[in-house]
Amino acid sequence: MNYKNSKFYVENISIGKLTRSFQTPFYCYSKLRLNQNIKNFYKNFEKTKPLICFSVKSNSNSKLLKIIKDNGLGADVVSIGELQKVLKVGFKPNKIVFSGVGKTSSELNFAIKKKILLINIESESELKNIINLSKNKKTVVNVGIRLNPNVNAQTIGKISTGRMQDKFGLTFKDAIKIIDKYKNSNSIRFKCLSVHIGSQILSNAPYQKMIRVVNNFLEKVSVNFEYVDFGGGMGIDYSSNKKTFDFKKLALEIHKFSERNECKIILEPGRSIIGDTAVLISKVIYIKESPTKDFIILDAGMNDLIRPALYNAKHMIIPAIKSSKKSKKEYDFVGPICETSDRFLKMKKFQRLNEGEIVILKDVGAYGYVLSSNYNVRPMPKEVLVDKSKTQIISKRQSIKDLI
Ligand SMILES: Cc1ncc(COP(=O)(O)O)c(C=O)c1O
Repeated sequence: MNYKNSKFYVENISIGKLTRSFQTPFYCYSKLRLNQNIKNFYKNFEKTKPLICFSVKSNSNSKLLKIIKDNGLGADVVSIGELQKVLKVGFKPNKIVFSGVGKTSSELNFAIKKKILLINIESESELKNIINLSKNKKTVVNVGIRLNPNVNAQTIGKISTGRMQDKFGLTFKDAIKIIDKYKNSNSIRFKCLSVHIGSQILSNAPYQKMIRVVNNFLEKVSVNFEYVDFGGGMGIDYSSNKKTFDFKKLALEIHKFSERNECKIILEPGRSIIGDTAVLISKVIYIKESPTKDFIILDAGMNDLIRPALYNAKHMIIPAIKSSKKSKKEYDFVGPICETSDRFLKMKKFQRLNEGEIVILKDVGAYGYVLSSNYNVRPMPKEVLVDKSKTQIISKRQSIKDLI
């Protein structure tokens, strides 16, 4: 995704062609970028050869999931809906892990019936529930136990999952206690130790701490795990300051860990696979001048992309067609929704924009469309996939009629 002769392109398709074909706002993905990200991920971890289970919560479009599955990845799901979807797409049950703090009996029953690789449990109550369900089915269920390592991922509080105050996983002490209590059960087998400390992590330090806690745990625990699942969380560069995650360093640490503990590794990346594969293409509806800045009112709103409102996330905005005329005033890019938080980004020295022009919000592939909603009775946007010179609608825009 880049400029050619000042015009933005997704692979071989120009922004002009895209906006003539599809009504804004819409999500647009690059298949090439997705394939490249997956290839790079494999390459970084080539020594360890982990089972890479794509985190479906970050993007659950079936067509994209199929590309991901065809590249050999497994899936990390967090609901029966996601589980049914990945099975329909064709992911093999032995490459699926099921995470989440509140899996209901019907969700667990379905997962047990489908014989997925792992159900990662997060409380003693959940484990007892699984034992009862598996007794009824006269089967043995492979479970992972999710440890809360009490590590600060140094990311936004709302996407931190591995601190003591977060709802996820079991404390060191409780995990040991539960394993000792249930390790001889005929209904479950502790097959995996799992951890996931948060998302959009940009430094290796939290992972190093997490690995130290897990090493310590494995020395104290009385079972041998076949797998250790380190979750996902590797961040991407949303800003333009090129602060990127050092995959090589993490890969080395994880490789040392797997050799020392003689276990297989699972990783659950979402954002690092899909985040930078998409842009949200939007039109300037109005420009409202004010003494201190101009409001650039877009046709995309927080119902299309909620990350800025929800997490203060900053998605870079770029023009569809570059020009050299800079605006003297600051631009405040906002949506049309009746909420002050419906605002994307403030930018200084942006090129001068006119009403009707197209702008591009970058890096919206992860936690973008999946978090969109019908707020203000607005239809959810379309998703388009570009593959070289071809475009394909991979989810339709809802119509107002659908909503009424
Ligand atoms: C259990 C679990 N695994 C994996 C992920 C994926 O994280 P990311 O998209 O940051 O790689 C998440 C998201 O927070 C998660 O909760």
